[in-house]
Amino acid sequence: MRQELVVRTTGEELWKVLAERWRQIAFEAVREKGYCTAALPGGTTPVGFYLRLAREPGLPWHETHLFQVDERLVPHERPESNYRLVRESLLKELAVAPGSFHAIPVGRKSPPDATCDYEEDLFSFFTPREEGMPAFDLVLLGIGPDGHTASLFPGAAALAEKERLVVYVPPSVAGTPRVTMTFPLINNARNVIFLALGSEKSEILARVLGGKASDLPASRIRPREGKLFFFADSAAGPASRI
Ligand code: 6PG
Repeated sequence: MRQELVVRTTGEELWKVLAERWRQIAFEAVREKGYCTAALPGGTTPVGFYLRLAREPGLPWHETHLFQVDERLVPHERPESNYRLVRESLLKELAVAPGSFHAIPVGRKSPPDATCDYEEDLFSFFTPREEGMPAFDLVLLGIGPDGHTASLFPGAAALAEKERLVVYVPPSVAGTPRVTMTFPLINNARNVIFLALGSEKSEILARVLGGKASDLPASRIRPREGKLFFFADSAAGPASRI
């Protein structure tokens, strides 16, 4: 597995480099297969990037299909909705609509229904196009100070999942019921990019980069055949590159 750390002084500089990387990945995927797939997280970190991405000229949005990494099962109007965040900072701002946006359904009768419906949505998109486990061109991820990523929290049952693409995370784990992509799906991606901003992320990022915290969910993101990137501002990133 190839791993690379990209550090820039400010978030703005970092997002510029990340937008270039997105462009490269998207065009390469479209050239190869005719479409690009990307999964987007929530949290506060990616907001600046989404706003920047929306202003990037000439991206192949018609051929780009967007999915959610995880979601809190709350109505879309609620401030903690990841769908709302992506809609407000990216989708609403885009001049050209993406090929499709696949939202994790939140209004289902039961959380397991939401999980099954989203998994079904993933299969119905990928099965006619690719064999086996879906391979996203790009998965963006945030990282929590406790080492969680997506809605994969330390000690949660979701960490043990070996087959499913997405699972339900009960409120006992993180306060709000959630649906999250699993390790098998994320680790099958061609590119996985962690985003980290600010000094409150420096300790956890150093632990994950140091490779001595294999128990942390974020440390278990190791794309089987893809590349792993860490994009950090200088407050979060270590002084030297790896
Ligand atoms: C979420 C995320 C979660 C997030 C981290 C970091 O929706 O909350 O999927 O994994 O990326 O908690 O959050 P911040 O970007 O807000 O620090």
